[in-house]
Amino acid sequence: MEPLKSGGSVRHSRARSGDAVHASVLVVLLIGVWCAQALEVSVGKVHFVEVMNGSTVLLPCTYSSCIGIKNLYFSWRYNDNGTMRMMCNGTIPAEGVDPRSNVYNPRVEFVGSSKTSNISILLWNVTFEDEGEYTCFARNPKEKNRNHSAVFTLFVVDEIKEVDNTLTVIILSVVGGIIGLIIVAMILKALIRFIIGKVQNKNKECLVSSSGIDNTENGLTGSKADNKASPKA
Ligand SMILES: *[C@@H]1O[C@H](CO)[C@@H](O)[C@H](O)[C@H]1NC(C)=O
Ligand SMILES: *[C@@H]1O[C@H](CO)[C@@H](O)[C@H](O)[C@H]1NC(C)=O
Ligand SMILES: *[C@@H]1O[C@H](CO)[C@@H](O)[C@H](O)[C@H]1NC(C)=O
Ligand SMILES: *[C@@H]1O[C@H](CO)[C@@H](O)[C@H](O)[C@H]1NC(C)=O
Ligand SMILES: *[C@@H]1O[C@H](CO)[C@@H](O)[C@H](O)[C@H]1NC(C)=O
Repeated sequence: MEPLKSGGSVRHSRARSGDAVHASVLVVLLIGVWCAQALEVSVGKVHFVEVMNGSTVLLPCTYSSCIGIKNLYFSWRYNDNGTMRMMCNGTIPAEGVDPRSNVYNPRVEFVGSSKTSNISILLWNVTFEDEGEYTCFARNPKEKNRNHSAVFTLFVVDEIKEVDNTLTVIILSVVGGIIGLIIVAMILKALIRFIIGKVQNKNKECLVSSSGIDNTENGLTGSKADNKASPKA
């Protein structure tokens, strides 16, 4: 009897250690899921912007990391018909430490700040050739150099778009004017109906009152109407 008992207790303790292993695996998995995007790069909710040529545009990008950063490498590249042209790159040694940045285009200015996890750039005096996709890239050595990136699209337009805008304004105001006219016409129609109805009511009242005073006159008018109707037929 005793060996059986001991065997049972051994099995029990084994099961317990198995539970502990399962629990720790679960915790690791949970942390893994929570930190799956240990580093995240974002260009914001709107992934594109439309600007006029000659203006200056902000290409926004931010990063966030739940395990912290160390020597974070970042870059901005422009997809020039397939070849990625470097616009700006740099490193952020640690959180809150000012980034070291290099720009590769005289019209590019780095305006990011490690205090706000911001790695945005400004593109000055935009030309039509600047239109296209800009990739914001970041790599955090703290997480096995995994690559993260987000794409921001720039559309460049000229004044012709403004004319389009005034055209839509004109169309909208014309449509609004027509709708307004229809409403005015309907109100006028209702008003005229109301007035006609009032006048007719007054006439009826006169008829009723006259008929109330004199029955014979009413009969007379009725016969008159009959007389008028018979020649027509
Ligand atoms: C934008 O482009 C148009 C057409 O090429 C040009 O006429 C205009 O001067 C440009 N505007 C600026 C601010 O460069
Ligand atoms: C982009 O490249 C393709 C072929 O590689 C070429 O046909 C096209 O003209 C190029 N477009 C521009 C805007 O350079
Ligand atoms: C942008 O254009 C203006 C006027 O043409 C010029 O003064 C300025 O230096 C330009 N800025 C850059 C960064 O090229
Ligand atoms: C990033 O910094 C630039 C320049 O200071 C600012 O205009 C922009 O709003 C910032 N973006 C975010 C998401 O904080
Ligand atoms: C990240 O991208 C670089 C090239 O930009 C590549 O050499 C490296 O293997 C990539 N790393 C991973 C983990 O994909």
